[in-house]
Parts: sequence; structure tokens; C-alpha cells
Amino acid sequence: MTLSPSLLPEHVVLDDFAVEATGLLVAELWAAVRARGLVSVALAGGGTPLGLYRGLAIMAGDVDWKRVHVFWGDERLVSPDDSGSNYREAFEALLSHVPIPPENIHRVRGELPAGEAVADYVAQLRDWAAVHDPRAPNPWPRFDIVLLGLGEDGHTASLFPGSPVDVAAPVIAVTADYQGRPAGRVTLTPRLLNDARRVIFLATGPKKTAAVRETWTIDDPVRFPARRICPANGRVTWWLDRAAAGDLTSPA
Ligand code: 6PG
Repeated sequence: MTLSPSLLPEHVVLDDFAVEATGLLVAELWAAVRARGLVSVALAGGGTPLGLYRGLAIMAGDVDWKRVHVFWGDERLVSPDDSGSNYREAFEALLSHVPIPPENIHRVRGELPAGEAVADYVAQLRDWAAVHDPRAPNPWPRFDIVLLGLGEDGHTASLFPGSPVDVAAPVIAVTADYQGRPAGRVTLTPRLLNDARRVIFLATGPKKTAAVRETWTIDDPVRFPARRICPANGRVTWWLDRAAAGDLTSPA
């Protein structure tokens, strides 16, 4: 695999949302490290978190990277050097710029056939939890932080409207057409995501306002899969920029 950093962080201009989100996330990372000695983070795909990832790269010195373990909430079934790979996006924006040990990077192997990619990721999650999160209630990690995006159609991770995601399995393969992006995907399911300690939804830009509003107000988890994300022992927060927030008022 030949990936090299394309944009050096010092050449990146961050918008206000990215700057604020970076500061908040650095604080969240430290809070988890103080509480448990390490922090497990599931990254989101898509374009929304890229400013945050670049911000974290700029703030690299403020994070103890050897205590950070990264996973992905979902991945497209493409090779890791494909422009559609969520791993590649995070690598170029963040991971290639920070001293994170390679063994702390737990990617979905999107280059494999769907079934094998799922089985491989389940095994990675199980093995990691056995060592680093032995008190987790299930054979997968209780993520300290899960970052999730929101599609204009209401999907999150690769949990798409109408798709059968109420399953006992922690990871599934799905096929979904969205904005011409790779259709074959692997995603964490609500079963695993709802074990998280902290879930942070990220949404930016005016095209997201309707999806945020509908997700907050319409009690239809089939149509709005993000409604399924409600950890029993965790907190959910939405980080929106002003454009996405529009005239929304916070959910109760
Ligand atoms: C992916 C995602 C997906 C994404 C939304 C929003 O792999 O595509 O993880 O859930 O977060 O589609 O994408 P944007 O941030 O690009 O709007």
C-alpha cells in the first residue's frame, strides 16, 4: 500500500467549526485517557470530519498518541489507497501526521470480499476488547468516543433508511447508493454503537439541516437510522456548524 500525506497540516486553513470541534475533541480524548489510561475512538467517514481530522493533526503535540486507538464506524469496500476509502481520508488528513503507533490503527479491510471484511473486523474488535477493554459487557469494545456523520437522507455510518440494521451482530455488510460513493460497505451496527460511552454526531452545511431536524423530531428509526443510536450508559451530542443548525433548537 502506498499512501503518503498529501496536505501538510501547517498548510491547512481550518474553518471555525473545525477549530472548535478540534478543541472539544482534544479535551474528550484526555478525559478518556485520564479515566481509563487509553482512549478508543471510532472515526466517521465522509467529508464532514476532515477539518476536524486536520485540526487534530495540527494539535498533534496536545495528544498522547500512544494511548489513542482508532477504529472506523464504517468503511467502503475498496482498497485502502482508493480515493473512496474512509481509511485513506483519515490517513491523509490525520494519521500520517501524528505519532500514533501503527498497531493502534484498526481499519476495516475494505479490500476483502464483504463477508471476509466483516469477519476480520469482528475478530479485530473482539481481540482488542479482550486485551484493552476486558470489562466490556460484550465481545467488542465499549468505545470511548464514536464520531458519526449524517447523510442528507438521514443515514449514519452505513446504516441507511429502510435497511435491516436491527441485528444482534456487531458488524454487517450492506449495499447502498449515496451520492455516487462506493456502494459496498461494512458498518458497525446499533448493537455495538449503543455500548459506547460517548457518541458525537457531526453535521455541517445547510444541506444537513433538514436531516438533523427530521432525525430529532420524527420518531421513525427505520426512516432515520441515527435515532437508533442511543447508548444506555453513554451520552450523545450533536456538533453542528451554524449553517447546519439553521433555525433548529436543541432536542430535549
Ligand atoms: C461514509 C460515512 C457516512 C457519512 C455520511 C455523511 O462512509 O460515507 O461514514 O455515514 O458520514 O454520508 O457524509 P458527508 O460528511 O460527506 O456529508
